[in-house]
Amino acid sequence: MPVTLLAIESSCDDTSAAVICNGEVLSNVVASQLEHDRWGGVVPELAARAHLAQVEAVVKLALTKANKPLSSISAVAFTQGPGLLGSLLIGSSFAKSLALGMEVPLIAVNHMEAHILAHFIDEPKPEFPFLCLTVSGGHTQLVVVNSATEMQVLGETLDDAVGEAFDKIGKMMGLGFPAGHKIDKLAITGNPHAFSFPVYEVGDFNFSFSGIKTAFLYFVRDKDPQWIQANLPDLSASIQHTLINLLMKKVVKAMDKTGLTQIAIAGGVSANSGLRDRMQKEASTRGWKVFVPDFQYCTDNAGMVAMAAWFKWQQQQFAPLDTVPNPRLKIGDSYQ
Ligand code: KG4
Ligand code: ZN
Repeated sequence: MPVTLLAIESSCDDTSAAVICNGEVLSNVVASQLEHDRWGGVVPELAARAHLAQVEAVVKLALTKANKPLSSISAVAFTQGPGLLGSLLIGSSFAKSLALGMEVPLIAVNHMEAHILAHFIDEPKPEFPFLCLTVSGGHTQLVVVNSATEMQVLGETLDDAVGEAFDKIGKMMGLGFPAGHKIDKLAITGNPHAFSFPVYEVGDFNFSFSGIKTAFLYFVRDKDPQWIQANLPDLSASIQHTLINLLMKKVVKAMDKTGLTQIAIAGGVSANSGLRDRMQKEASTRGWKVFVPDFQYCTDNAGMVAMAAWFKWQQQQFAPLDTVPNPRLKIGDSYQ
């Protein structure tokens, strides 16, 4: 009898649902919310309302695309955290209602663990243990992944996430929100050594990005808007180079310290072409194997939640109906 799971992701500003059958993702529907662009960042109340408006249609579409009726679902999974509380509440309430109505188990998933487990959706898959650099709009973490359910955070950002740095710096250059992919594109034709920005060292395996953001602000605030416009490629290439250097310095240190030979990148910023190229370069000189998920599984999506749920199903790790969302959920803390 095949095991089919339905997964719902609603931690930030993407409403997503996916269906997984015996470990194979059959559908992954993502409805991105465009209403935040004009505000230059995600507005939590607007995000929660948009999730509420979209969740039912997104779930129905995921089932239709997978060619699976609701009655075939063996369990319902949802993102318990971390994320925005209002957004998490919509996904978790919807998942609980479905599980209750259909009398099937509920599976609570940690969003950060799901980003890492996205590497098990398609080939090639890493083997345990490996190191994962998770880089998104909300998080920057270096995680030793011993198994699907045993992960150890080696270091993380003490302030802004690297995606947030891309977005805020992009805003200073008038690129709108989110800006990571725009900086990436502009950087291709720019000179990464045109400008240099001071970096702040925080020791060990932790990161800090707020200082570089402020340094960039001081650098551009007296400049003429026309000068900024004319120098967008060089500014983008230089700031991207600086951010990637910061990330890679810690990755090299962590790989050396742990002796691991496989490195995976996860989260929205793993779509960055500069980061991917640099990782491949370091890997070829150091003998590492690099894993990057397909683009649709880099940014927020329910396919990765479905994969994390599949691992939990195999260990029969279910959550009671009174499980509550946790905006600050830590790796290893989701309901076992
Ligand atoms: O994982 P994600 O979709 O959402 C969070 O959980 O935060 O990541 C979104 C972040 C945004 O900050 C966006 O600017 C960044 O990923 N991003 C990129 C690229 N594509 C998305 N940053 C740099 N280069 C890209 N190509
Ligand atoms: Zn995410």
